[in-house]
Amino acid sequence: MDRKKEACHCKNITYGMIEDAIKSGITSFDELQEKLRFGTSCGQCREFIQYLVRDIKEELEKAP
Ligand code: FES
Repeated sequence: MDRKKEACHCKNITYGMIEDAIKSGITSFDELQEKLRFGTSCGQCREFIQYLVRDIKEELEKAP
């Protein structure tokens, strides 16, 4: 995963920021959104980030 890649362009939220928030223990999409504020402008990233969050969680579960 490219941590520098932007997931939400309006709020400049990167994959890495989302990954770090999940690692810090926030796992629900709503809580992540509340903390990072992604998806609160145009909203176009919301569906994509739902999949991204699921993928990141799956990756982390697989990690040793
Ligand atoms: S790209 Fe995320 S709110 Fe616009």
